[in-house]
Amino acid sequence: MPAQTLAAQPGRWLWTCREGFESHLFEELTWAGAGPRLLGPALLESEQRPEVPPAFGRAVERVVATWAPPGGAQVPVEDLVAAMSGLPSRVPWLVRAYTPDSAKGNTQAGRAEALEAAVRSALPAGRVLEDDGRAREAGALLVGLCVAPDGVLMLGAVSAREALSLAPGGRRRMKRAGESPSRAAMKLEEALDGLAHEPGRGDVCVDLGAAPGGWTQRLVARGARVVAVDPAKLMPELAKNPRVQHVQESAFAYAPEESADWLFCDMAWRPLEVAQLLAKWGRRRWARNLVANIKLPMKDKNPLLLRVRQTLVEDGGWEGLTVRQLYHDRDEVTVTAHRMR
Ligand SMILES: C[S@@+](CC[C@H](N)C(=O)[O-])C[C@H]1O[C@@H](n2cnc3c(N)ncnc32)[C@H](O)[C@@H]1O
Repeated sequence: MPAQTLAAQPGRWLWTCREGFESHLFEELTWAGAGPRLLGPALLESEQRPEVPPAFGRAVERVVATWAPPGGAQVPVEDLVAAMSGLPSRVPWLVRAYTPDSAKGNTQAGRAEALEAAVRSALPAGRVLEDDGRAREAGALLVGLCVAPDGVLMLGAVSAREALSLAPGGRRRMKRAGESPSRAAMKLEEALDGLAHEPGRGDVCVDLGAAPGGWTQRLVARGARVVAVDPAKLMPELAKNPRVQHVQESAFAYAPEESADWLFCDMAWRPLEVAQLLAKWGRRRWARNLVANIKLPMKDKNPLLLRVRQTLVEDGGWEGLTVRQLYHDRDEVTVTAHRMR
């Protein structure tokens, strides 16, 4: 790790990741021939952007300009706005200031918030979109301000349609006012947030490794019917719910009576064996859509992930595979895919 945060080079790609996972992202970018360089905790740059998004990259943007004034002096807002003048202004912008997601990075949160407010008010009225729900369809430009430690400030941009995440630095916080969902439930919501379509009313969902029931609860709340497969107990309110069928056995022994619209899996089990199980579901066309969380407690994660990808695609016939470490994922990644009939 560099002693001081390094500034990225304009024209390169700036990546954020979970703190402690820099070496895994670095390895993925190296394998893809993308020419990575470590900038600091939770922050990398690369010469190229690989076609297949690396699993451990949370967000990415093309670097437009960087500043590292001596002594950590403030960069005048006018300088930042001037650097933005070359960005396409025919499309609306989403402006996001963020800090790298690290202990050191988080000390800059106040600075990031103040800078975002100052930049927004210095930009022409109507330039900045308030509602990111419309950003992709409006073809918006995601303009990122990475407020890093050691006085480093980086301006980047990427089309919202090509962005890995629209959340600031990929930190997708799902908690809504008045709610206290479990981390498991937030993992599911974050995974569904990135999909073109979501499970809904009347859909049949199978949830492998369902207990205590955070995912099942979210699916039922969306109007789905859920077969929850887990030897462990479900929360009492779910066990009584007529739209939940609890199959109290191992997912490896279970075979569905009807094919499902969605297969969910959050089983705490060995990744390759889970991948083989999911491949069996794909081969037998037991489900059309897949959302699975794969646990990766081992040190050497990428060789294993490669085998998981191969198993799902080559043995399972799953298509449109995405493998991403989401904001709510710890030592794990979330896989999504679908299967044509
Ligand atoms: C991380 S928890 C799942 C949390 C769940 N998604 C939720 O939202 O509440 C992992 C679960 O995998 C289950 N599990 C482990 N091996 C299993 C197997 N062979 N078949 C089914 N479930 C299994 C465990 O019993 C445990 O409940």
